[in-house]
Amino acid sequence: MAEKVYRASTTAPVNIAVVKYGHRPQPHLQLPGALLHSLSVTLSQADLRTLTTATCSASYPASEGDTLLLNGEPSDVSGARTQACFRELRACRAALESADPSLPKLSTMPLRIVSENNFPTAAGLASSAAGFAALVRAIADLYELPASPAELSLIARQGSGSACRSLFGGYVAWRMGSAADGSDSMAEQVAEAAHWPDIRALILVVSAAKKGVSSTAGMQQTVATSGLFQERIARVVPRNMAAMEKAIRERDFAAFAEVTMRDSNSFHATCADTYPPIFYMNDVSRAAIRAVEQINAAAGRTVAAYTFDAGPNAVIYYLEKDTEAVVGTFYHVLGGAGLKPTLSLDEGVVGLLKGGVS
Ligand code: ADP
Ligand code: CO
Repeated sequence: MAEKVYRASTTAPVNIAVVKYGHRPQPHLQLPGALLHSLSVTLSQADLRTLTTATCSASYPASEGDTLLLNGEPSDVSGARTQACFRELRACRAALESADPSLPKLSTMPLRIVSENNFPTAAGLASSAAGFAALVRAIADLYELPASPAELSLIARQGSGSACRSLFGGYVAWRMGSAADGSDSMAEQVAEAAHWPDIRALILVVSAAKKGVSSTAGMQQTVATSGLFQERIARVVPRNMAAMEKAIRERDFAAFAEVTMRDSNSFHATCADTYPPIFYMNDVSRAAIRAVEQINAAAGRTVAAYTFDAGPNAVIYYLEKDTEAVVGTFYHVLGGAGLKPTLSLDEGVVGLLKGGVS
């Protein structure tokens, strides 16, 4: 008799931080570090999402071990981050199985994960966030774990720090927690998407190429060598967190935008202050910053805010009512729907994606 294949599928959204974390002192836990929190907006899955299917079966050869097919290509799962997720989820399943011996022993079977991102992977668009959130939830569903998003966020952040925020919708904070070892550091929702539903994100896919330095490696270098980074954790991030939570509470876009742009600038300043320096932004990224400044100057108020993660791609936040001014201007500046930029730049924008908070 053929052995049964157990299966679960899920999707997870991307989140783009408006106050960025920047400290991973314990690589295993992916913690944001002392006094350091972060805050993000979860984007609509209609636009950017990871789709992950997890299966396991006693018929899968043990010699092949656990496997991950990412965007159609075999992907290495031997890294500590992925292993930590598998180990924790298996331990949760094994606990259920020993409490109820009638349950099938899924925890002993090899896992096969198939995952697809419908947006560029490892290009600064938070694929690790959506990717590990989906991976953890797909396996938790497969194992029928009674885990809440908060509990799953504890596991997902071990895959990628930012993944713990993708388990929630709306406006999400990742807090340090109070345990000395940081073991209770997890994500929580600051406000539902419905609290401030008219935020929109325009994503300028400047480059779909994989970044030269992975987020984790880059951050470790920054923590080790940047003096400016110490200033950022001591003063800049706590101030930005407080201002950002207030802006969201009061639905104050001008304040939201200013903190978003200042925090992105501060983060990239610490990258430039890393030795040797890390440059995630390129000429097109800087042109996008100037375009936002022009849009705001022309409107006579703040209608757009830029932010860049560890990559050259820009995320522009704006309000639904200002779509014309923001998207219209970007299409114009970047040469219209053909997306051939009219700016004389080395590298062109390869695509525009639009999303809302969800
Ligand atoms: P990004 O800016 O896209 O988040 P990172 O360097 O932080 O880039 O992370 C990219 C890594 O995240 C990939 O190399 C891969 O290991 C992991 N990842 C991305 N998407 C997925 C996915 N769908 N499932 C599992 N892991 C993924
Ligand atoms: Co990432």
